[in-house]
Amino acid sequence: MILSGGAGTRLWPLSREQFPKQLLPLAGTHSLIQETLLRFSDLSRFAAPIVVTNEETRFTIGEQMRSVGIDSGAIVLEPVARNTAPAITAAALMAVEKDPAAILLVVPSDHVIGDVPAFLAQVAAALPAARDDGRLVTFSILPTRPETGYGYIKRGEPLDGHPAVYSVSAFVEKPDEQRAHAFLTSGDYFWNSGMFLFSAASFLREVEQYAPEVLDAVRTAVAGRTVDLDFIRLDAAAFAASPGISVDYAVMEKTAHVATVPCDIGWTDVGAWSELWRIAGKDANGNSLQGDVLVEESHNCYVRSEGILTAAVGVEDLVIVVTDDAVLVTPRGRAQDVKLVVESLRRQG
Ligand code: GDD
Ligand code: MG
Repeated sequence: MILSGGAGTRLWPLSREQFPKQLLPLAGTHSLIQETLLRFSDLSRFAAPIVVTNEETRFTIGEQMRSVGIDSGAIVLEPVARNTAPAITAAALMAVEKDPAAILLVVPSDHVIGDVPAFLAQVAAALPAARDDGRLVTFSILPTRPETGYGYIKRGEPLDGHPAVYSVSAFVEKPDEQRAHAFLTSGDYFWNSGMFLFSAASFLREVEQYAPEVLDAVRTAVAGRTVDLDFIRLDAAAFAASPGISVDYAVMEKTAHVATVPCDIGWTDVGAWSELWRIAGKDANGNSLQGDVLVEESHNCYVRSEGILTAAVGVEDLVIVVTDDAVLVTPRGRAQDVKLVVESLRRQG
């Protein structure tokens, strides 16, 4: 199941509401969602994908799926964004309808995974705990900075009979800076990657317990769904009645059945330009140059042009992104704040 509902505001001006970052080729020849689809396209291991997204991006997603040879799979449309708990609940309800024993691998559409075979091996390692023990398994990552935008997982003991899988003694979604620092230095905490493996039925049991209003609303929305060409539309009024809440707050922080598989897979949530700079190839001065760009005596910059020749001289640690209709300039260290521009543009209408 692929989550494709985010707007990617920190990657403005490339990422736009109509064309969010997962539809862009930000870290390779394919778009992020195409890279995601291709990771799990081996039909001997995975069923056809369920992509949960919105009206605005539906045709582009359909085209992008077909153009990488994925012509089966469901595209489920949310009438309004209600965050990830309702989106995953909808997919889980449809999955158990088809197969009561269905196992869901939930992945965001906008992550980069450098070592896909390693990740697939960890998915295989997680499977018995998900299938036989009803565990909600999250794939976790060794943290490298006190990021406040992620969830943190305190790893517990190895699970009996499941060598690569650990119990979780705490799950803290998006801590403040002080706690993030403490988690990083403690060495006991991992990042939640936001990728999960669980049986759809076990997940729904937890939603019933911890977020019953989400389950009620989404169950009605799924029961009232309509199918139009390639798209499955959830009932609008019913879905809109669901609380908007992420799966991390609604279920993962609360459930007693969470477990984790620590992964070393070259994972990145490409949330901001600074992360694209981090993972990109660089010249001898640490600059990442994309498109028709030229830099002189500059260091550690990310310079990207989608069109016109763009030049920089004597600058350090900057992000410069040029598109047909907008130019962004910001220090790399402020890349998280690009969302302020988007908020301000929205206010201006
Ligand atoms: N269909 C749908 N509907 N998808 C959504 C919605 C929605 O309403 N909201 C978000 N998504 C998608 C996003 O496009 C993204 O692919 C994924 O769900 C996760 O949402 P984010 O908004 O990017 O979450 P986050 O980055 O703040 O936090 C999550 O990911 C972190 C790692 O990247 C959490 O799981 C954290 O715990 C985790 O550390
Ligand atoms: Mg994210």
